[in-house]
Amino acid sequence: MPTRRHFLISFVATPIVLPKLGHAAALPAELPLTASCHEDGEPTPAQTEGPYFTPNSPEKQDFAFDAPGGEKLTLAGYVLTRECQPVAKALIELWHADESGIYDNVGYKLRGHQFSDTQGKWWFETIVPGIYPGRTRHYHIKVQRPGGKVLTTQLYFAGEPGNQRDRLFDESLLLDVWATSDGKFGRYDFIIA
Ligand SMILES: [Fe+2]
Repeated sequence: MPTRRHFLISFVATPIVLPKLGHAAALPAELPLTASCHEDGEPTPAQTEGPYFTPNSPEKQDFAFDAPGGEKLTLAGYVLTRECQPVAKALIELWHADESGIYDNVGYKLRGHQFSDTQGKWWFETIVPGIYPGRTRHYHIKVQRPGGKVLTTQLYFAGEPGNQRDRLFDESLLLDVWATSDGKFGRYDFIIA
Protein backbone atom coordinates (compact mmCIF):
# COMPACT_ATOMS: atom_id res chain seq x y z
CA MET A 1 0.00 0.00 0.00
CA PRO A 2 1.40 3.44 -0.86
CA THR A 3 2.44 5.84 1.89
CA ARG A 4 1.06 9.34 2.54
CA ARG A 5 4.32 10.65 1.07
CA HIS A 6 3.67 8.67 -2.13
CA PHE A 7 0.19 10.20 -2.40
CA LEU A 8 1.56 13.68 -1.79
CA ILE A 9 4.36 13.32 -4.33
CA SER A 10 1.84 12.04 -6.89
CA PHE A 11 -0.50 14.92 -6.10
CA VAL A 12 2.25 17.53 -6.40
CA ALA A 13 3.72 15.98 -9.55
CA THR A 14 0.43 15.55 -11.38
CA PRO A 15 -0.06 18.49 -13.72
CA ILE A 16 -3.33 20.24 -13.17
CA VAL A 17 -5.98 18.60 -15.37
CA LEU A 18 -9.17 20.54 -15.30
CA PRO A 19 -12.44 19.08 -16.48
CA LYS A 20 -14.79 21.18 -18.51
CA LEU A 21 -17.66 22.45 -16.41
CA GLY A 22 -20.48 19.96 -16.58
CA HIS A 23 -18.21 16.97 -17.09
CA ALA A 24 -16.74 16.52 -13.63
CA ALA A 25 -18.69 13.30 -13.13
CA ALA A 26 -17.03 11.80 -16.21
CA LEU A 27 -13.53 11.96 -14.71
CA PRO A 28 -12.10 8.45 -14.51
CA ALA A 29 -12.05 7.06 -11.00
CA GLU A 30 -8.38 6.06 -11.27
CA LEU A 31 -7.31 9.70 -11.40
CA PRO A 32 -8.28 10.84 -7.92
CA LEU A 33 -5.44 13.33 -7.73
CA THR A 34 -6.59 15.60 -10.53
CA ALA A 35 -8.63 18.67 -9.76
CA SER A 36 -12.35 18.30 -9.37
CA CYS A 37 -14.84 21.00 -10.22
CA HIS A 38 -18.44 20.88 -9.11
CA GLU A 39 -20.65 20.20 -12.07
CA ASP A 40 -22.71 23.29 -11.35
CA GLY A 41 -19.70 25.48 -10.54
CA GLU A 42 -21.20 26.33 -7.16
CA PRO A 43 -18.73 27.87 -4.72
CA THR A 44 -17.74 25.92 -1.62
CA PRO A 45 -20.33 26.72 1.06
CA ALA A 46 -19.33 28.95 3.96
CA GLN A 47 -19.74 27.84 7.58
CA THR A 48 -19.26 29.47 10.95
CA GLU A 49 -15.67 29.77 12.20
CA GLY A 50 -16.81 28.60 15.62
CA PRO A 51 -15.43 29.73 18.97
CA TYR A 52 -11.84 28.49 18.64
CA PHE A 53 -10.27 30.60 15.88
CA THR A 54 -7.03 32.36 16.82
CA PRO A 55 -5.82 35.11 14.47
CA ASN A 56 -2.22 35.58 13.33
CA SER A 57 -1.35 31.90 12.96
CA PRO A 58 2.18 31.09 11.75
CA GLU A 59 2.94 30.15 8.15
CA LYS A 60 3.18 26.38 8.65
CA GLN A 61 2.46 23.28 6.54
CA ASP A 62 3.65 20.55 8.87
CA PHE A 63 1.70 20.02 12.10
CA ALA A 64 3.41 16.67 12.85
CA PHE A 65 5.13 17.91 16.01
CA ASP A 66 1.93 19.46 17.36
CA ALA A 67 0.20 16.14 18.03
CA PRO A 68 2.68 13.25 17.75
CA GLY A 69 0.14 10.76 19.13
CA GLY A 70 -2.52 11.44 16.51
CA GLU A 71 -3.36 9.41 13.43
CA LYS A 72 -1.40 11.00 10.58
CA LEU A 73 -3.33 12.58 7.72
CA THR A 74 -2.03 14.51 4.73
CA LEU A 75 -4.65 17.07 3.75
CA ALA A 76 -4.41 18.42 0.22
CA GLY A 77 -6.34 19.99 -2.62
CA TYR A 78 -6.74 22.85 -5.03
CA VAL A 79 -8.16 26.34 -4.88
CA LEU A 80 -10.17 26.92 -8.06
CA THR A 81 -12.41 29.63 -9.44
CA ARG A 82 -16.02 28.94 -10.45
CA GLU A 83 -14.65 28.61 -13.98
CA CYS A 84 -12.30 25.83 -12.76
CA GLN A 85 -9.18 27.93 -13.07
CA PRO A 86 -6.44 27.46 -10.47
CA VAL A 87 -5.93 30.26 -7.94
CA ALA A 88 -2.28 30.85 -7.09
CA LYS A 89 -1.11 32.51 -3.86
CA ALA A 90 -4.45 31.94 -2.14
CA LEU A 91 -4.22 31.93 1.66
CA ILE A 92 -5.29 28.63 3.22
CA GLU A 93 -5.56 28.62 6.99
CA LEU A 94 -6.20 25.42 8.95
CA TRP A 95 -7.04 24.92 12.62
CA HIS A 96 -8.49 21.92 14.39
CA ALA A 97 -8.71 19.88 17.57
CA ASP A 98 -6.05 17.37 18.64
CA GLU A 99 -6.70 13.63 18.82
CA SER A 100 -8.52 14.12 22.13
CA GLY A 101 -10.84 16.80 20.73
CA ILE A 102 -9.01 19.67 22.43
CA TYR A 103 -8.00 22.96 20.80
CA ASP A 104 -4.83 24.80 21.71
CA ASN A 105 -6.36 28.15 22.65
CA VAL A 106 -3.12 29.49 24.13
CA GLY A 107 -0.56 28.83 21.42
CA TYR A 108 -0.59 27.70 17.81
CA LYS A 109 -0.54 23.92 17.97
CA LEU A 110 -2.53 22.53 15.03
CA ARG A 111 -2.91 26.03 13.62
CA GLY A 112 -1.19 27.46 10.58
CA HIS A 113 -1.52 28.96 7.14
CA GLN A 114 0.14 28.70 3.75
CA PHE A 115 -0.35 29.88 0.17
CA SER A 116 -1.41 27.85 -2.86
CA ASP A 117 1.21 27.25 -5.54
CA THR A 118 1.01 28.30 -9.19
CA GLN A 119 -1.35 25.39 -9.93
CA GLY A 120 -3.62 26.29 -7.03
CA LYS A 121 -2.37 23.33 -4.97
CA TRP A 122 -1.99 23.32 -1.19
CA TRP A 123 -1.31 20.63 1.44
CA PHE A 124 -0.81 20.18 5.16
CA GLU A 125 0.75 17.33 7.13
CA THR A 126 -1.47 16.92 10.16
CA ILE A 127 -3.63 14.41 12.07
CA VAL A 128 -7.21 13.20 12.10
CA PRO A 129 -8.95 15.58 14.52
CA GLY A 130 -10.61 14.14 17.61
CA ILE A 131 -14.25 14.77 18.36
CA TYR A 132 -15.65 16.89 21.17
CA PRO A 133 -19.15 17.11 22.65
CA GLY A 134 -21.79 18.54 20.36
CA ARG A 135 -19.82 18.26 17.10
CA THR A 136 -18.92 15.61 14.58
CA ARG A 137 -15.33 15.22 13.34
CA HIS A 138 -14.22 18.32 11.40
CA TYR A 139 -11.45 20.68 10.29
CA HIS A 140 -11.77 24.47 10.23
CA ILE A 141 -10.48 26.27 7.16
CA LYS A 142 -10.26 29.78 5.77
CA VAL A 143 -9.46 30.38 2.09
CA GLN A 144 -8.80 33.77 0.54
CA ARG A 145 -7.63 34.62 -2.95
CA PRO A 146 -5.26 37.59 -3.20
CA GLY A 147 -7.39 40.64 -2.52
CA GLY A 148 -10.57 38.55 -2.30
CA LYS A 149 -13.04 37.97 0.48
CA VAL A 150 -12.42 35.26 3.06
CA LEU A 151 -14.24 31.95 2.74
CA THR A 152 -14.58 30.41 6.21
CA THR A 153 -15.76 26.82 6.23
CA GLN A 154 -15.31 23.34 7.71
CA LEU A 155 -14.44 19.92 6.24
CA TYR A 156 -15.96 16.60 7.29
CA PHE A 157 -15.33 12.85 7.16
CA ALA A 158 -17.73 10.39 5.55
CA GLY A 159 -19.14 7.61 7.70
CA GLU A 160 -18.89 9.44 11.01
CA PRO A 161 -21.71 8.47 13.38
CA GLY A 162 -21.95 12.10 14.50
CA ASN A 163 -22.53 13.56 11.04
CA GLN A 164 -26.32 13.22 11.04
CA ARG A 165 -26.60 14.64 14.56
CA ASP A 166 -24.50 17.72 13.76
CA ARG A 167 -26.65 20.55 12.46
CA LEU A 168 -23.65 22.17 10.77
CA PHE A 169 -22.73 19.02 8.82
CA ASP A 170 -22.91 19.50 5.04
CA GLU A 171 -22.14 16.60 2.74
CA SER A 172 -20.79 18.95 0.08
CA LEU A 173 -17.93 19.56 2.53
CA LEU A 174 -16.92 15.89 2.78
CA LEU A 175 -13.27 15.05 2.25
CA ASP A 176 -12.24 12.29 -0.13
CA VAL A 177 -10.12 10.07 2.10
CA TRP A 178 -7.75 7.24 1.15
CA ALA A 179 -6.06 4.80 3.50
CA THR A 180 -2.28 4.63 3.14
CA SER A 181 0.34 2.44 4.80
CA ASP A 182 1.15 5.17 7.33
CA GLY A 183 -2.07 7.08 7.87
CA LYS A 184 -4.59 8.76 5.63
CA PHE A 185 -4.64 11.07 2.66
CA GLY A 186 -7.54 13.52 2.43
CA ARG A 187 -8.52 15.68 -0.54
CA TYR A 188 -10.78 18.68 -0.92
CA ASP A 189 -10.91 21.28 -3.70
CA PHE A 190 -12.21 24.72 -2.83
CA ILE A 191 -14.25 26.63 -5.38
CA ILE A 192 -14.17 30.30 -4.52
CA ALA A 193 -16.20 33.13 -5.99
FE1 LIG B 1 -14.36 22.94 15.86
